[in-house]
Amino acid sequence: MIPKPFVKWAGGKRQLVPVLNENLPKTFGTYYEPFLGGGALLFHILTERNGQKCSISDLNSDLVLSYTTIRDKVDDLIVSLRNHEKNYQKDSKSYYYYVRESNPRSEIEKTSRLIFLNRTCFNGLYRVNSRGKFNVPLGKYSNPNIVNENNLYSVSSILQSSRIAIKCRDFEAVLRDAKKGDLVYLDPPYQPVSDTANFTSYTNKDFTYSDLSRLAELCIKLDSKGCKVLLSNSDSKEVADMFSTKPWNIVKIKANRSINSNSKKRTGHFELLIKNY
Ligand SMILES: C[S@@+](CC[C@H](N)C(=O)[O-])C[C@H]1O[C@@H](n2cnc3c(N)ncnc32)[C@H](O)[C@@H]1O
Repeated sequence: MIPKPFVKWAGGKRQLVPVLNENLPKTFGTYYEPFLGGGALLFHILTERNGQKCSISDLNSDLVLSYTTIRDKVDDLIVSLRNHEKNYQKDSKSYYYYVRESNPRSEIEKTSRLIFLNRTCFNGLYRVNSRGKFNVPLGKYSNPNIVNENNLYSVSSILQSSRIAIKCRDFEAVLRDAKKGDLVYLDPPYQPVSDTANFTSYTNKDFTYSDLSRLAELCIKLDSKGCKVLLSNSDSKEVADMFSTKPWNIVKIKANRSINSNSKKRTGHFELLIKNY
């Protein structure tokens, strides 16, 4: 079975994989994905390119822990998820809020909590408050797929390659490691396109305009090192201005934003793909 993202993630790129794939360079060294989220493009690349060397990371420590737990302890994780599933079927509402309030210590329980909440919460959204506490309400599902066993095994098996490094760190750290010919795919949290736009906090630290400027500077440094850089972002003037000069090529693509609390706003819109090759 082909592995797919094991979480639904705001800004996830599952629907855009075909267009991202068309925009990948033909050859590259190590693949870097420092804003990993659900890893839609990662799983595509790993499926297409046997033995690909990768360095994947994210600042959300619970999410990163989920990747390593699925890799190392998938059997125990499935047992724990089955337990959540059984309790949820008895009384979904009270059990959901009980798990949401809980703060488990073990790696397995932390990961099964994250996956359980992701499968059963409103819109499969990951959002935390300023204290880092998950605060999404219960979703309206009659029969959520809490334990997707086949996919968890596929993900576990593909991540076991010794050529894949998984880290929790800020995106700028890729600069230290990436070398000439490596591919860096950057999919940061988007700046809200308007004051009323839905805004998502993946971690208790928001991605601010100054982070975006830091990212633009990083892209220039990666380019001068000879790395291949591919960046996704919102179709905003701020972003277009930051990448208006050589070597950046901007491709406007049609996307469908599937996570929005207002279903009327879940319509097609444009995003930018920016690359230096
Ligand atoms: C748009 S999502 C990535 C979605 C991903 N491409 C997918 O297909 O699911 C952005 C990710 O960046 C992470 N993030 C936010 N600030 C970060 C930072 N300073 N360094 C690294 N990762 C960060 C968030 O935790 C989130 O998972």
